[in-house]
Amino acid sequence: MEVLKLDILKNIKSTEKFKDKIDKDNLPKHIAIIMDGNGRWAKKRFLPRTAGHREGVKRVMDIVEECGNLGINHLTLYAFSTENWSRPKEEIDYLMKLLVEFLKSKLKQIHKNNVKINILGDLSRLDRSITNEIENAIELTRNNSKLELNIALNYGGRDEIINGIKSLYKDLMVGNVSLKEIDEDSFKDYLYTKKQPDPDIVIRTSGEKRLSNFLNYQIAYSEFFFVDENWPEFYTNNLHRVIYEYQNRVRRFGGI
Ligand code: FPP
Repeated sequence: MEVLKLDILKNIKSTEKFKDKIDKDNLPKHIAIIMDGNGRWAKKRFLPRTAGHREGVKRVMDIVEECGNLGINHLTLYAFSTENWSRPKEEIDYLMKLLVEFLKSKLKQIHKNNVKINILGDLSRLDRSITNEIENAIELTRNNSKLELNIALNYGGRDEIINGIKSLYKDLMVGNVSLKEIDEDSFKDYLYTKKQPDPDIVIRTSGEKRLSNFLNYQIAYSEFFFVDENWPEFYTNNLHRVIYEYQNRVRRFGGI
């Protein structure tokens, strides 16, 4: 409990420090986050891993709301990778249950905040009870325009590219597209993110420095932030700090 109190104190102090420093005219268009460290957060507190995931969902809502408040237009959250199926069944079921709970309890608020929900990933392996909730959320929010919230679910970056190539091949075969029309930009239409801008920022929490098959095509020129906090302690102040640091980096996109 003592540790929790300290986290909160840290939050308040840093919020005052970084939010006001953000340049509102130079905001990133798209932030992508690998939410890592839920299990370690729980372990440090002698709690089951599921408690870490539950606390992580609270941060999801905080960060979604704050991105909307700041005027960020695209947010991608890595909720479940194609590799996560190798976890114990109970943990997988719990994560799916949390997602459904999240959609059921927060959808109204999300819709009110003008947030559009997209799913990046292959939904065919998920139970009907889960995809029903997802379809409902996508349908309700389809015309919202303030923030696109992409939830990467059963997502793998390589899988996404292979699927894209297969769809492109089909389009080529029936003449919907010609070889001449295919370039780095037009290929994006075959990815789950479609016409959304590439992430300016990729954040991974928990101190791990890997990309774990996340948005492989889209992150060619993203700025990376590997932060030490575990996801359940990634408060809005931490987001402000990353945006502030991003605004102080020089992006050259291969130029000089
Ligand atoms: C990584 O922590 C986290 C995940 C695999 C799941 C992230 C999911 C949520 C935060 C909840 C559901 C999402 C939404 C959008 C409502 P880990 O378990 O790998 O932690 P560890 O590396 O410390 O073990």
